[in-house]
Amino acid sequence: MPNNQIKTYQEYEEAYKRSVEDPEGFWSDIASTFTWRKKWNTTLEWNFEEPDIKWFKGGRLNITENCLDRHLKTRGNKLALIWEPNDPKERFVRYTYRELHEKVCQFANVLKKNGAKKGDRICIYMPMIPELAFAVLACARIGAIHSVVFAGFSAVAMADRINDAQCSMVLTSDGLNRGAKQIPVKRVVDEALERCYSVKKVIVVERLGWAVNMVEGRDVWYHDEVQGVSKDCPAEEMDSEDMLFILYTSGSTGKPKGVVHTCGGYMVYAQYSFSNVFQVQENDIYWCTADIGWITGHTYLLYGPLLAGSTSLMFEGVPSYPDMGRFWQVVDKFGVNIFYTAPTAIRSLMGGDIDDVLSYSLDSLKVLGSVGEPINEEAWHWYHTHVGKERCPLVDTWWQTETGGIMISSIANVTPIKPAHAAYPLPGIQPILVDAEGKEITENEVEGYLCMKFPWPGIIRTTYGDHERARLSYFSTYKGLYFTGDGAKRDKDGLYRIIGRVDDVINVSGHRFGTAEIEDAINHNEHVVESAVVGYPHDVKGQGIYAFVICKEVPEREDYLRAEIIETVVEKIGKIAKPDKIQIVSGLPKTRSGKIMRRILRKVAEGDTSNLGDTSTLLDPDVVDEIKAGAL
Ligand code: WT7
Repeated sequence: MPNNQIKTYQEYEEAYKRSVEDPEGFWSDIASTFTWRKKWNTTLEWNFEEPDIKWFKGGRLNITENCLDRHLKTRGNKLALIWEPNDPKERFVRYTYRELHEKVCQFANVLKKNGAKKGDRICIYMPMIPELAFAVLACARIGAIHSVVFAGFSAVAMADRINDAQCSMVLTSDGLNRGAKQIPVKRVVDEALERCYSVKKVIVVERLGWAVNMVEGRDVWYHDEVQGVSKDCPAEEMDSEDMLFILYTSGSTGKPKGVVHTCGGYMVYAQYSFSNVFQVQENDIYWCTADIGWITGHTYLLYGPLLAGSTSLMFEGVPSYPDMGRFWQVVDKFGVNIFYTAPTAIRSLMGGDIDDVLSYSLDSLKVLGSVGEPINEEAWHWYHTHVGKERCPLVDTWWQTETGGIMISSIANVTPIKPAHAAYPLPGIQPILVDAEGKEITENEVEGYLCMKFPWPGIIRTTYGDHERARLSYFSTYKGLYFTGDGAKRDKDGLYRIIGRVDDVINVSGHRFGTAEIEDAINHNEHVVESAVVGYPHDVKGQGIYAFVICKEVPEREDYLRAEIIETVVEKIGKIAKPDKIQIVSGLPKTRSGKIMRRILRKVAEGDTSNLGDTSTLLDPDVVDEIKAGAL
């Protein structure tokens, strides 16, 4: 395993101390464990005002040479990727590092043959099949910037993302499997492309063997294109700060923003955080259940494990198919040692029959991880007891699309673990809590807004096409700090517990949505005048979506209207953003200046109307009684 792994608590303390006192020396030593075509000139240049952050400036590299080529000598025949299909009766597929290298090179050559070149943006809208992994790495191989859009987003959402980045190509599949369902992916792409003019080529991978519409001159089948294509493709030499990828995520205002990560820093941070947090050993089988469409899949299914030379398992299906024991069946089938999933998955499985877990041995497991949202104590204990049999450290990893990799987390078997606590920052990470005025809170046993005071290699560089938006979203709330948007508590021992978002972002099953984004979608419905969306505690999803909606006229059938509103959201964003509750109201609680008092709506949605605070400053205080009475 890479020689930058911390093994003891003392080593953690030493590494942490050095990372603060001499961050450049610290990161430069770690970066030296990678393959660079040319070494960097300066380790770090930064200011958080612009922001302008450059790691390993002047360094030249290709991340896929670090993921693949450099392992060929020592790990050529080691498994790089194991793919488990949706249907347990279908055969799984394994790729050694040598085979994966060939697949990626071939895919890269197909991209080139179809006109892709360095700097192009390529949208990838694909199910969890091996070709998705090849496609992402193939883009990186030729220096094209990948923008993976989770295959559950709607055509409209995909089109917005394609247009924002002006993608020239889309990589997709005919359809996808999701449990018992099959979904026509290519049809969604066709619909999206009716609104996109930048896309010149669509490469379609066959998954279901469906006959799909192929547009002459634009659409090609991957299996045709790959015929006779070379299994070797020299990697494009990239600058450290060249863009590696764009990944869209939601903010508190407006449309999703394209978070930009760059080659050098992201690479260093992905491997370092991966190897350390999970304490991965050479022969471990590691399984991250996230979809590659999210940052967790980017960093901890694909890049992190491959950079570390590990064996990563990729699963096409869902935890509940064909039954609630599927995760555990797969763990036993491959002897998975490290298992990384989301609290929402755990909570949904907790609802099933306990025998669905107890029927499997799970003996191979050594380390468990959690990511995406706060894990409540009940879920933590269930996971730790029934899956980890109380012998596996369970690391709660806090981070964000914008941070590129894990920031605050226990390090398995190295640093302390406390249920529902992300615990300590990784070396190189300098969190601080501030109050509403931005003043640092230095004592413990306090709550505050979570910020970072120093850059780390995986930090967001910009929001694609709109640098000002990055500045406003992350670097302007508190001067000189990166603001996470989360509130956190630091306990008496200095361990962090993440409380959740303090902005208008809600986290549904570990997926992020802006309340404004969902309101925008709802407002597209012709019957709707205005809407306000808030999150509320949901047993399985963490947060549910509660929409208060004002209609043009009192609907005859509220249920029809609700169904229609849901349809609108599904069309604009996707099924994943469906409101759980829609309350039709005649007005919204607003201040005299017209600002919606979300605090009140949140209380109603939570079912706690005993103390709504002062409502006397409202424009129309009566509306609150109506909303309370009609609460769902
Ligand atoms: C937001 C980031 C990081 C990959 C998946 C989500 C919440 C994430 C935790 C955790 C409590 C967490 C935060 C964060 N979050 N991990 N371990 N404990 N909250 O990435 O979509 O960018 O969302 O997810 O609120 O800000 P994302």
